[in-house]
Amino acid sequence: MEDFKVKDTNLASQGRLKIEWAEAHMPVLREIRRIFEKEKPLENCVVGACLHVTKETAVLMRTLKAGGATIALCASNPLSTQDDVAAALAEEGIHVFAWRGENTDEYYENIEKVISYEPDITLDDGADLTVILHKKWERIAEKVIGGCEETTTGVIRIRALARDGILKYPVIAVNDAETKWDFDNVYGTGQSTIDGILRATNILLAGKKFVVAGYGHCGKGLAMRARGMGAHVIVTEVDPIKALKAVMDGYEVMPMKEAAKVGDIFVTVTGNKSVIRKEHMLLMKDGAILANAGHFNVEIDLKDLEEISVRKRRINPYVDEYTLKNGKRLYLLTEGRLVNLAAAEGHPSEVMDMSFSNQALSVRYLVEHGKEMKPDVYKVPLEIDRMVAELKLKCLGIEIDKLTPEQEEYLRSWEEGTI
Ligand code: ADE
Repeated sequence: MEDFKVKDTNLASQGRLKIEWAEAHMPVLREIRRIFEKEKPLENCVVGACLHVTKETAVLMRTLKAGGATIALCASNPLSTQDDVAAALAEEGIHVFAWRGENTDEYYENIEKVISYEPDITLDDGADLTVILHKKWERIAEKVIGGCEETTTGVIRIRALARDGILKYPVIAVNDAETKWDFDNVYGTGQSTIDGILRATNILLAGKKFVVAGYGHCGKGLAMRARGMGAHVIVTEVDPIKALKAVMDGYEVMPMKEAAKVGDIFVTVTGNKSVIRKEHMLLMKDGAILANAGHFNVEIDLKDLEEISVRKRRINPYVDEYTLKNGKRLYLLTEGRLVNLAAAEGHPSEVMDMSFSNQALSVRYLVEHGKEMKPDVYKVPLEIDRMVAELKLKCLGIEIDKLTPEQEEYLRSWEEGTI
């Protein structure tokens, strides 16, 4: 069996330095690693992972390996792999099949390479690994003890698999842990998306009209950070409750057809497809910038963009200029793929510390309990969520109050009311 496939093994030393940097900013995961090293909860366990191959993911891989796992890893996006990190992981004995710029065939071949290791546990980000396993490798899927899913889009897909009666093993929705989505999705996406846009374009955000499509956790974080940089933020939504939240958070809310006429920068974070279409693109101002921070590259309709364009030029590795038949130019970042991972380095290590601590502890939970769990989508156990928060606070040197016995009793009782 092929051991690994990366772009260039000579990049390993640079990758090791990057991982060291991430590790220094991920104290909770370091603590879990110390526990795993001692207790070896993952002995004889094969973990098959489809994640963004970043320095933060590398720290998670080291943690699982310290727990005794054998690991096969591929990328969850063709443009997000950090090649130096992949090289370093290969050198450390992780079976990595990932490089930046994989084409679609290579992307799926690498997923199948991971499946060929016949994983006991799957780790997914977007559910491509889980779906391919269920579609093509039923025999292997049947032996999987359990899986974890990292992102909103993936959880939605796996819930659909469960609803259709296809899901073969229990999956923990790591995304839905409070110590994941209230931090990673909000502060992680917020900061890293701005980072990606700036690394790609170096534009000034102050005074720009910045359109955020989608006001879920990620959209909320992005709108907040764009406003912090002095942009005038406009939100588009389809959900009345989320739209109302955006209004009360102080943003202008309007349909995309209106936003298209005034926006300077458009970022999709919806989890849906064709959010920006031909009818919107044709209304946009000359020079408008389009980027996506949702999981898949379907939020900006690329077919539409090609169709209405007469010329395409690569301005820099992250920016493509499209000249439309109407003479206007639109600038698409990172081919419509996750701009925060393709043009920048993804979420900062400090926030991935919490997300990946949930992953590591959920893997241990599945190894211990997965065989008794029915195929379905599960929440991260509350004790894991709380443990991650407690450890993070401890690492930050922050103490909090405790309930007094009287307060505990008060919260349990119904008798005391108005006094
Ligand atoms: N998803 C978003 N940011 C990430 C990162 N830095 N590493 C892995 N997955 C991510």
